[in-house]
Amino acid sequence: MNYNEIESLLKEKNQTQLLRYYDELDESGKEELLNNISRIDFSLTDILKDPELEQKRGVLEPLDAVRLSEIEAKHDEYEKTGIEAIKQCKEGTILLAGGQGTRLGYDKPKGTFNVGITKELYIFECLINNLMEVVKKADAWVPLAVMTSDINHDDTVAFFKEHDYFGYNGDYVFFFVQDMAPATDMEGRVYLAEKSKPAMSPNGNGGWYTSFVNAGLRETFTGLGVEWLNVFAVDNVLQRIADPCFLGAVIESGCVGGAKVVSKAYPEEKVGVLCLEDGKPSIVEYYEMTDELMYSKNDKGEPLYNFGVILNYLFRIDELNRIMNDRLPVHAAKKKIPHIDENGNKVKPEEPNGYKFEMLVLDLIHLLKDCLSYEVDREKEFAPIKNLTGIDSLESARELLKKNGVEL
Ligand code: UTP
Repeated sequence: MNYNEIESLLKEKNQTQLLRYYDELDESGKEELLNNISRIDFSLTDILKDPELEQKRGVLEPLDAVRLSEIEAKHDEYEKTGIEAIKQCKEGTILLAGGQGTRLGYDKPKGTFNVGITKELYIFECLINNLMEVVKKADAWVPLAVMTSDINHDDTVAFFKEHDYFGYNGDYVFFFVQDMAPATDMEGRVYLAEKSKPAMSPNGNGGWYTSFVNAGLRETFTGLGVEWLNVFAVDNVLQRIADPCFLGAVIESGCVGGAKVVSKAYPEEKVGVLCLEDGKPSIVEYYEMTDELMYSKNDKGEPLYNFGVILNYLFRIDELNRIMNDRLPVHAAKKKIPHIDENGNKVKPEEPNGYKFEMLVLDLIHLLKDCLSYEVDREKEFAPIKNLTGIDSLESARELLKKNGVEL
């Protein structure tokens, strides 16, 4: 788009502040700015103008999980089915590592964080070690695609190379970059991070499939035989990846997707709960939980909405293709956004001064035809590192790693 086209687009969107410093820029700066603006998806900010767009909840009902005891009883059967599929390269894995990890207060890619005490043990290394167990069992490599963002891509790729993929087969490791979303002031006007750069941040973990497809990886994966994708977060250092038992259970259930869940530790626990909404699978975030959802019980005295998701999902690729053009809800979160002000001064705010926009992988679940809720033991599979101390922290994860025999 040329200057005139951009200018009229910005007038229409009430975003002309983005051209404030245009005249001060040299030719390459001007080109860069126009190019950056033309890539912005302004529709992501519509949520501020029309809060009605915020997802309205339908009728919620509980969704029971395949319980630990049942999984234990059918373990060998599920595992056999899963291993067979993995041997035929029917499962690929997607590591979501495009986040900024702000709560941890670590400004490099979260996966490069060292959780070791007496030795080096990086988060990425823990995940690869977990995946290697499956590779050994199935005697087959499992393709792994790592989603990064503009902010951490180069560091992430370099880190894997520097560590020789922690013993993984580099031919089976792929990287792709997620899309970015604009960051705005409280009125929805996009900030400038620099005179030629609008302020942008990763657009959440919900757009991963589109980014994966746009990077050409769907062809690469399906070419290898992949039919299922196991999607997981970077920060749960205990999770089982490409878990054959989970894959086997989902295949045998006939469902198009699956979600690993844990039994909630207490009703107010801050995890999203997998249930049914208008008859389809859906995840209710902890901040949306009403007292009724938190405290109601079934006739056995068990909590009705008891299974929290841990961001470890299985999706059948043909189902992802069916739903990939459906629009996901956009979530606006108040954040501190560094920018340059109208006098050209750099501002590093102490308090939230605007919004970042995200789409979330948990909203994908509601687009699926069905989803198997699959219980795992939190002591063995749930050690997310969100903070340095306290709940879901480096401290709590180290404890759980030790309990599971991981040397630190
Ligand atoms: P979180 O919701 O914990 O976000 O991400 P975060 O950015 O890592 O951490 P905070 O909130 O700033 O402290 C859950 C998973 O989704 C990935 C993260 O890398 C993590 O694996 N993610 C998140 C992305 O891949 N892209 C994003 O834009 C956001």
